[in-house]
Amino acid sequence: MNLILLGPPGAGKGTQAAKIIEKYDIPHISTGDIFRDNIKEGTDLGKRAKEYMDKGELVPDSLVIEIATDRLTKDDCKNGFLLDGFPRTVDQAKALDEFLAGRGDKVDHVLDIEVPKEELMTRILGRRVCRKCGATYNIPNMPPKVDGICDVCGGELMQRADDTRETVENRIEVYDSQTKPLLDYYKEAGVISRLDGTTGLENVFGVIVGILGD
Ligand code: AP5
Ligand code: MG
Repeated sequence: MNLILLGPPGAGKGTQAAKIIEKYDIPHISTGDIFRDNIKEGTDLGKRAKEYMDKGELVPDSLVIEIATDRLTKDDCKNGFLLDGFPRTVDQAKALDEFLAGRGDKVDHVLDIEVPKEELMTRILGRRVCRKCGATYNIPNMPPKVDGICDVCGGELMQRADDTRETVENRIEVYDSQTKPLLDYYKEAGVISRLDGTTGLENVFGVIVGILGD
């Protein structure tokens, strides 16, 4: 089961990914998370990616494609994978198709989560992420039981560096201009399903399970 999650910033890709990988037992590959881990560790890759991420711009294709395809060669991807935030440009999608075709494989499903722009900003500004385990919350939609503390591991909750109003505005514009063309790309390939992402976490997940099957 080779899956891709598409959707604008704040659509709920990471939130649904956590549920999908648990049910289907496939690895979650988020290019955004890979870059954030590298920033935390102070690697060269992290330093290069941060320049773009802080502005809400896309990290250059050449860099992203190498990181993503390299990750897909790992053993845990043999029975499928869930890509979150990759591909994000038509060139990235073509590179992925070529890479998969090279091992007799293909993209099976693309799940496009749709949420109106007005709601994206509210969601992202209200997002809190656990520093330790990465669990995601939302003030006021899905708050933690204790203010500032992760329900799962007791870690400290924080805001992402790129979750500022100005950066989010640019991330949404970049999505419209550079990532939306992917919707037609995958429509032509006949693999895309469009989902209403405003119906609540469990409802959205229910629709996804309906599409992917048990
Ligand atoms: P990335 O980390 O992928 O960020 P993004 O695409 O902007 O998406 P987000 O992670 O912000 O949103 P999400 O859809 O995961 O929403 P979430 O589930 O958290 O990328 C960051 C940056 O890295 C990019 O800007 C770029 O610079 C770089 N990058 C990464 N990949 C790249 C690539 N391929 N090419 C080039 N550059 C790349 O939910 C959001 C909030 O809403 C949370 O608070 C959550 O609790 C809440 N929520 C979730 N679902 C619901 C619901 N159903 N109802 C109400 N609230 C909900
Ligand atoms: Mg995410």
